[in-house]
Amino acid sequence: MTDAQLRRTHQLAPDEVEQVRAIVAAATLADGVGPLSEDARLRLDRPGDHVLVEESGARGVVGYAGRHDDTVELVVDPQHRRRGHGRALLDAVQPAQTNPADPAGQPTARGIGVWAHGDLPAAQALLRSASFAPVRELRKMGRDLARSDVDRPVRLPHGYAARAFVPGQDEDAVLAVNAAAFAHHPEQGSLDRAGFADRAASAWFEPAGLILVEELESSDGLGHPRLAAFHWTKVDPADGDPDAGEVYVVGVAPEQQGKGLGRAVTQLGLEHLRERGLARVELYVDADNTAAVATYERLGFTVLTTDVLYRATTS
Ligand SMILES: CC(C)(COP(=O)(O)OP(=O)(O)OC[C@H]1O[C@@H](n2cnc3c(N)ncnc32)[C@H](O)[C@@H]1OP(=O)(O)O)[C@@H](O)C(=O)NCCC(=O)NCCS
Repeated sequence: MTDAQLRRTHQLAPDEVEQVRAIVAAATLADGVGPLSEDARLRLDRPGDHVLVEESGARGVVGYAGRHDDTVELVVDPQHRRRGHGRALLDAVQPAQTNPADPAGQPTARGIGVWAHGDLPAAQALLRSASFAPVRELRKMGRDLARSDVDRPVRLPHGYAARAFVPGQDEDAVLAVNAAAFAHHPEQGSLDRAGFADRAASAWFEPAGLILVEELESSDGLGHPRLAAFHWTKVDPADGDPDAGEVYVVGVAPEQQGKGLGRAVTQLGLEHLRERGLARVELYVDADNTAAVATYERLGFTVLTTDVLYRATTS
């Protein structure tokens, strides 16, 4: 490694957050894919496990790794690659059992996971050379919103109706359906009130973009019809393609699955995005979620990029 320093901290200073954001922007431009997930970007100015590389002579920070639980995301400034910084960051975030100098390292039975957004050749080479292996594939899919060949009128099953989310009223119902629908999903299933409030406070959040489908004849015990499914759309011109909206989360309560609600609520969200004047729509889905992948393929979505989670194969 060239003359560089690694620094591990629980809290990045505001100017360090700005420098990491600049690296993220430069890497997104150079690689055609963003190096950090939305979650990792939201965590930049929070207490956590952050590692910086600072190169002497450079303007400051040239690389960053963030670790949350046993999952890591890392990026090196495109101008400062192939100097050993990626490998140094990876070594620094390894758990204590393999890196005794790591003050924050929690030994994990299965080793840390590292996300390679876009599964770029450089990430593949670095991770494989460090004995990591792919364990999970997340697909980014997309389509044009104007697709008369696949879009038919939305048909909700009899007895169900759609309406927009009402702040202060519907949070618990959405979180309950989300938790049940994503019970086995590593990140989405753990969305809690604080995580929801974070997103609801984001500039992109709009209640009309969170579409609820209720079963009219049932009751949630508080006099409201029971929530059966929701589609949370996202329009954030500051993030990626300004003409694209996102199928952010589609959740169908487990006991309501198999009735066509997934397709119908997805289409309702696409209609909303079309009304917003957007040209394209994107989404992320686990490659092994065959029901969701099939729903999206039938609605005309195709794979744009693939993110891969690699896990350390501990010996
Ligand atoms: C992946 C990434 C972090 C590598 O950073 P880096 O500082 O260039 O990596 P290093 O210099 O430590 O490289 C370590 C090894 O990885 C491999 N490697 C890195 N870049 C490579 C490339 N473009 N082609 C082939 N092998 C590559 C090599 O084996 C290299 O060792 P060597 O230089 O001795 O041959 C950087 O390319 C990046 O930020 N990519 C975008 C974000 C991303 O994909 N993150 C996933 C994290 S793994």
